[in-house]
Amino acid sequence: DGLSAKELFENRHGYTYDDLILLPGHIGFSTDEVSLKSKFSRNVSLEVPLVSSPMDTVTEHGMAIQMALQGGLGIIHYNMKPEEQAHEVKLVKRYENGFITSPMVLKPNSTVADIDAIYQRFGFSGVPITENGQMESVLLGIVTNRDIHFTADRRTPLKDIMTPRKDLVVAKDTQSIEECHQILITSKKGKLPIVNQKQQLTGLMSRTDLLKNRDFPLATRDNKKRLRVGAAIGTRENDKSRLHALVEGFSFFIRMFVVMTYNTKSEKHFILFSSLYTYINTNINLFIYFLAGVDVIVIDSSQGDSIYQIDMIKYIKKTYPKLDVVGGNVVTTTQAKHLIEAGVDGIRVGMGSGSICTTQEVTACGRPQASAVYHVAKFASRYAIPICADGGIQSSGHIVRALVLGWVFKGCLSYDTYCIYIVNMYALGIKNMPHSVYFFFLVLQGASTAMMGSLLAGCEESPGEYVYQDGIKLKTYRGMGSLEAMKKGSDDRYFTERGKIRVAQGVSGTVVDRGSIRKFIPYIIQGVRHGFQDLGIQKFDDVKRLRENGEIRFEVRTQAAQKEGNVHSLFSYRKTHY
Ligand code: XMP
Repeated sequence: DGLSAKELFENRHGYTYDDLILLPGHIGFSTDEVSLKSKFSRNVSLEVPLVSSPMDTVTEHGMAIQMALQGGLGIIHYNMKPEEQAHEVKLVKRYENGFITSPMVLKPNSTVADIDAIYQRFGFSGVPITENGQMESVLLGIVTNRDIHFTADRRTPLKDIMTPRKDLVVAKDTQSIEECHQILITSKKGKLPIVNQKQQLTGLMSRTDLLKNRDFPLATRDNKKRLRVGAAIGTRENDKSRLHALVEGFSFFIRMFVVMTYNTKSEKHFILFSSLYTYINTNINLFIYFLAGVDVIVIDSSQGDSIYQIDMIKYIKKTYPKLDVVGGNVVTTTQAKHLIEAGVDGIRVGMGSGSICTTQEVTACGRPQASAVYHVAKFASRYAIPICADGGIQSSGHIVRALVLGWVFKGCLSYDTYCIYIVNMYALGIKNMPHSVYFFFLVLQGASTAMMGSLLAGCEESPGEYVYQDGIKLKTYRGMGSLEAMKKGSDDRYFTERGKIRVAQGVSGTVVDRGSIRKFIPYIIQGVRHGFQDLGIQKFDDVKRLRENGEIRFEVRTQAAQKEGNVHSLFSYRKTHY
């Protein structure tokens, strides 16, 4: 019955998700046994293949933290100053950890007002006090919420109110994380400082973070157990300093150069400052890079196949070879080829398919999303590059279609696949990689992800306030190509030149309240698991094999069939989610 993906997509029509229906397979497992492990980019793996879009009404730190806790990923938008965006990244990276790698530390003479400032900026207030207000200095005490609640004078020095060292339970830096966890649990304290032999503070653990870790076993973390986060940048020259800020966490030193670079009116000084800046980044500050903020950079453009993007990809890979870069957006194999040649680690697919997009209407360019995903994913799989289906996702059913269409690169070690891979890398001019690395990539490569804007914009964690209209709770959701967003700075995504007329490629509107993504993402994911169960696909990794064997069957739906497939023939109805 039905058609294979090849038969379907190798004809001349362009299809989108709703045009297609998947024919069910055989169920032989429960939804709990469905594995949706995937990759956003070469080195960023996800337990849940969902990503929130870099839009100013979708992803700031609140959304990114929750997405990562749920096993997905958030990409912080860049419609703000570089230092603000870098701060958003920091908030995610510092949000939680059994082990806080770089805690906020103060001096004995700092005041209660300093604690208030930390609380406002970072949302936590258990602050260790050391001799010189830095890590690796002798621990003198801790100030927690309880110590400051009843202090009326916010100028009070912390040495007068802190819990002193002699009353603190501490762990030694020679103890294992498990031992530290145990001390934290039995001590019933909120914070556990870690000290070395000289009684200097080397780390801090937090009880609430430990509990949070337990609640989110799927959370997306880096190798230091910090939550992972992505950030978007544009392709202009000054996006390079934004990139440095995002990677290095905006140290004061770096910031000084950015401020000078931005404020100078002289072209000569601009060049001097930017080169100094780049030199420092590449040569001196390497260790800061390893303490990095951002985990993956997404180059945000409505039409990703441009000389500007290619230059930016090359620049990023040269400056930070270990940082993953996702390029896009593209919808054709030729566009994808150019980005792969430039060195991307992931590709974002979609042009004009987003709910707020008018790109296809304004420029006549784009592609129906299902076709775009199929063709780009099929091509990118030859190079083991994961792809992200971006835009047009309105339900778990759309996510299932997007994931099944993604031409999943299975970690297959067959000699054939290996040879094809090497030939392709040679064709791209990437010749000097040891064979073991090809092998490594082959084993690691997985699948693709789905990126959402409108589906998440109504959630509590997205930026902005709720408004009521006719008794319905709504939130603003706007395209980054809407005039409102472009005026705030997102013109770059649409190649608007300074001083030229702005042509909107998106609209501004509202979406209904969806509650917290803490409930919404598990709900959506369970829907996706049901989809995979109905298809008889237990592992996301199996998609390619099943499809190649022709076991995944599609059918095109007529308009009447689409109508039949949705709720119909009722006078009224209510759609309740959870
Ligand atoms: P959804 O359907 O999830 O789409 O709301 C989100 C994606 O749409 C893209 N985007 C735009 N595309 N004009 C466009 O043509 C715009 O103003 C615009 N703003 C966002 C973007 O790829 C996003 O992830």
